Amino acid sequence: EVTGPCIIVIFGAAGDLTKRKLIPALHNLAQNKLLPDAFAILGIGRTSTQTNAFRSQIHQDLQEFAADALESELWEWLEPRLHYLAGNFQAPETYQQLAAQLQQLDQAFGTQGNVLFYFATAPTFFTEITQQLGAAGLVQETSDQWRRIIFEKPFGQDLASAQRLNQEIGQVLTESQIYRIDHYLGKETVQNILVFRFGNGLFEPVWNHRYIDHIQITVAEQVGVESRGGYYEGSGALRDMIQNHLFQLLALTAMEPPVSFEADAVRDEKSKVLKAIEPLTAEEVLTCAVRGQYGEGQIKDQSVSAYRLESRVSPESNTETFAALKLTIDNWRWAGVPFYLRTGKRLPERVSEIAIQFKHVPSLLFRETSIDQLTDNFLVLRLQPNEGISLQFGAKVPGPKVRMGSVNMDFCYANFFDATPTTGYETLLYDCMIGDATLFQRSDNVELGWQVITPILDVWSALPSRDFPNYGAGSWGPQAATDLLTRDGRQWHSSS
Ligand code: BG6
Repeated sequence: EVTGPCIIVIFGAAGDLTKRKLIPALHNLAQNKLLPDAFAILGIGRTSTQTNAFRSQIHQDLQEFAADALESELWEWLEPRLHYLAGNFQAPETYQQLAAQLQQLDQAFGTQGNVLFYFATAPTFFTEITQQLGAAGLVQETSDQWRRIIFEKPFGQDLASAQRLNQEIGQVLTESQIYRIDHYLGKETVQNILVFRFGNGLFEPVWNHRYIDHIQITVAEQVGVESRGGYYEGSGALRDMIQNHLFQLLALTAMEPPVSFEADAVRDEKSKVLKAIEPLTAEEVLTCAVRGQYGEGQIKDQSVSAYRLESRVSPESNTETFAALKLTIDNWRWAGVPFYLRTGKRLPERVSEIAIQFKHVPSLLFRETSIDQLTDNFLVLRLQPNEGISLQFGAKVPGPKVRMGSVNMDFCYANFFDATPTTGYETLLYDCMIGDATLFQRSDNVELGWQVITPILDVWSALPSRDFPNYGAGSWGPQAATDLLTRDGRQWHSSS
């Protein structure tokens, strides 16, 4: 269904996110006939580009980053809808010019006063731009015109800064205008966690501490820090990935069924489960939180250099490029079930998965088998790559003796649905345009994530690591991450 009329204003239009994700996503929406004719895009950036140059830049970017070849008919539709405004985000004149441009575009395209502002800028600008938009009267809603703002990540640096940011933007905007993005929620496979859990009668009855031994969430990346050293040095894996993406996966996996699929019903349940995560004490941080930083190593037979040698990274950097946590959720459903989370850069494979291990049988019937020969019953939700779901269980190996072997039931998205590749931003942009905030984070969701992470950050910054780098590029992280599970008699699911 086509969205309603609107203008999308992108702050940070010359940036990487705009060319790699936002414009390709808007292109895909247009290709699928989901954008209305009453539509325009206005890029704002500090570079003094003219609209014509902006258009040809986008044309070039689309050829590079859109999944499908750019159709000339689609470009003819899009080109006149692309506009650019050069301006300093801190200067009030920028917002006067913006107001004038919005009026012109509104008249030219009939967008009925609806505007989506996308903050694809460094987070240091979030408050400033919000206040300037407010002062210029650009975020005022009326009964027939909406104004919404998408905030890119990171939303805060720790609990205090996230609370401050929420408070500052809350002075100008109502919560219903604020869309805090976590691009993992735009992934089909992540949305499928809810469908899988609440659309099938088979799994929900066993989705609790009675049947589940523990849950592992892994987001492993092969890439290093690439050109983002400047940002990453002040962030690290815990802030960059765990507070947002891995906590979203945890929340969707562990939350109670919401009363409906309405935004607030879903977000209420997420908050409840995040609130139930037991905060780690300082002593527990030392045993239940592991940090790592990659040294040099080999990935796919290529030598790669250590994190400390990457551009815009300090040669003595103490920033973690790997983090693993053992958390417990203190509620009825999950009493006694550990959640192990890990993420890292320069690991051997790119793999994101949620692996749920079910408990072993209560007693062994087969005399020749010992308990450690039993197959672990893992249900694995694979988010990327080879998106799908697999269930690992034991089966009898043919032959006169009773021997058990491990087998898999496998579902691969690619075999069932011929979906076209997406950037993950299509759904998020579309949902914001139709005013559905289900896949966006509410202020309390974000703050609760920081609440769990902040005590760990505090201990880590008070006790800088003395053994960095402590894992080689191309390995599965520091030894302590393996020990985190072996100590409990368990193993990471995917670490060959
Ligand atoms: C981003 C992080 O939010 O997510 C990056 O800042 C990370 O460091 C990226 O590489 C991973 O996203 P995806 O979609 O490739 O798993």
